[in-house]
Amino acid sequence: MNEQIQQNAEKRKRVFSAIKPTGNPTLGNYLGAMKYWGDMGKTCDALFAVADLHAITVAIEPKELRENSKRLFALLIAVGIDPERDTVFMQSHVTAHAELSWLLNNYTMFGEASRMTQFKDKSKKAPDNINVGLFDYPVLMAADILLYQADIVPVGEDQLQHVELCRTIANRFNNRYSPTFTVPVGKIPTYGARIHSLSDPTAKMGKSEGEGDGTIFILDTPDVIMRKFKRAVTDCDTKVKAGKDKAGITNLLTIYAAVNDITIEKAESEFESSSYAEFKTRVGEATVEALRPVREKYEKLRSDDNALCELMKAGASKAAYIARKTLEKVYKKIGFVRV
Ligand code: TYM
Repeated sequence: MNEQIQQNAEKRKRVFSAIKPTGNPTLGNYLGAMKYWGDMGKTCDALFAVADLHAITVAIEPKELRENSKRLFALLIAVGIDPERDTVFMQSHVTAHAELSWLLNNYTMFGEASRMTQFKDKSKKAPDNINVGLFDYPVLMAADILLYQADIVPVGEDQLQHVELCRTIANRFNNRYSPTFTVPVGKIPTYGARIHSLSDPTAKMGKSEGEGDGTIFILDTPDVIMRKFKRAVTDCDTKVKAGKDKAGITNLLTIYAAVNDITIEKAESEFESSSYAEFKTRVGEATVEALRPVREKYEKLRSDDNALCELMKAGASKAAYIARKTLEKVYKKIGFVRV
């Protein structure tokens, strides 16, 4: 019996993902990533972090960083991550992340980091703050993943390129020394890997997009969610069908499919004879119902700051134990004197 338990434990895959506390978490973050994180701990050994070290690569006020970080930590638990079963923590509470990141810098090529599209996009958006941290961002992300020997990294599409770079770094290190890191794979959901803005369906729905109508925030009230969906951009056709020239309707169908865990084809068939107005209302209602339990649980968690801090401490201590083991191995392999 004990042997059976041990075998099962050995077969369990390790999952790691993180989200950074910039702006307000969106429906894109939820459907592209967070929605699935709660269930992953049922079958995998799951670790999730609030990537607060990543947040300072863009200008952020201290008060905002503090508030966003607490909000996101609570939200991770509200979406279903179980702090007892899983490991949920603040990245800056585990110093191994910054340490491994420095070490991995030396196994990452300048050209590789220069090719990251997020670096290029963010540099364009804030030309007066193209700091070295922004450039180094994917290396810190690789450190996050590799410290925990993760097999699977569940993310939205925009993070896949960073996971690829992480694989390159891991392989390079393993080949230079000896197998040290598990080489992870990025995993995106079938529907929802890239949710677009409701007001500009060619752009990604982003946290920092401000309070405009194009972005649904996870913590928006039902009224606000309904209003934003009713204003969503569609097209001058009348058919609720996904298609190349129908970015707005395709985005709404994707949201409906992802929220209800159904295929786009099934979603299309449900709205075969619906008007755009009816369709938008139904997508709004489905989203409200999906987010309602998350908001309710979040509000409970935020009513006790001390309890939240205790959970942070416990999570960091579990994570640090695993991270330290990997880090020690890495120091030794490189040739550092350890005493
Ligand atoms: P972040 O904070 O930008 O986003 C968190 C997760 O949400 C996904 N996402 C989306 N998915 C679908 N549609 C959208 N519009 C959308 N917007 C965001 C992202 O792909 C991501 O999975 N660098 C990461 C955080 C990070 C990380 C890591 C992730 C730090 N270390 C290690 C994985 C592993 C980031 O900025 O995600």
